[in-house]
Amino acid sequence: MNKRRFLNTSGLLLAGVLLAACGKKEEPPAPAPVASAPAPAPVKVYVVGTDAAYAPFESQNEKGEIVGFDIDVVTAVAAKAGIQVKFVNTPWEGIFNALGQGDRDLVVSAVTITEERKGTMDFSDPYFDAAQLIAVKETSKVSKFGDLKKLKVGVQTGTTGDEAVSKLLGKTNTNVKRFESTPLALKELEAGGVDAVVADNGVVIHYVANNPGGKFKTVSDKEFVPEQYGIAVKKGNTELLAKLNEGLKAIKADGTYDQIYAKTFGAPPAAAAPASAASK
Ligand code: ARG
Repeated sequence: MNKRRFLNTSGLLLAGVLLAACGKKEEPPAPAPVASAPAPAPVKVYVVGTDAAYAPFESQNEKGEIVGFDIDVVTAVAAKAGIQVKFVNTPWEGIFNALGQGDRDLVVSAVTITEERKGTMDFSDPYFDAAQLIAVKETSKVSKFGDLKKLKVGVQTGTTGDEAVSKLLGKTNTNVKRFESTPLALKELEAGGVDAVVADNGVVIHYVANNPGGKFKTVSDKEFVPEQYGIAVKKGNTELLAKLNEGLKAIKADGTYDQIYAKTFGAPPAAAAPASAASK
């Protein structure tokens, strides 16, 4: 070691000793992590995936927070079940893969319980009734689902709306226009790129009501099968499922669910289904 290096090193050592001494005057040094008492067991935070472009069920407010009916329901369910949740915006395409891979513990995203999906995931008890609804321009002659057969129809990829339209027009029919989100499909309707959009009634009604400039109207059809939303968990996660069902039961029993429903749709569920609530 040359002299200079030695001086430098000893200077550092001295500084270290001084610092340590100073430190001691204020507080004892923090104990080394290994030697510390066992930390309290970390609280499990369940990660909830939601495609937050689906108002009024899930959307982002001006602050970028994820809000909506589904968010309120799961937050209330979690409180009853005594679990912690964190919502993460997750694109619809890939949302079920994220669940299967464990990147999300649950999915709340206005997800319709279907037989096919039940093959790859488990669902809570149903928490919301829905149906498909057609959106068209006010001037459109469409009066029933069958009228869409020869038209360009926008849907959100991989939704039950996509399934219904694919069945009517044929899965590979290029008149089925698939979009990443339902609002994008509805924007395309406004722009004239598609003649109709088929999507969940609650979302279509909300969009039409909030975009009067789009000059839309809605067309319902009894041909659309009744749908029910459920909270999805990874197949076999019976422990979490039991907690969610227990929470759902509790919020339905004590009026919390009805409060959330009224906050979102303006009327309690018994008095008005979302479809009739907005048809003026
Ligand atoms: N209910 C429909 C389905 O399950 C559409 C749900 C889309 N949800 C969403 N947040 N984008 O297929």
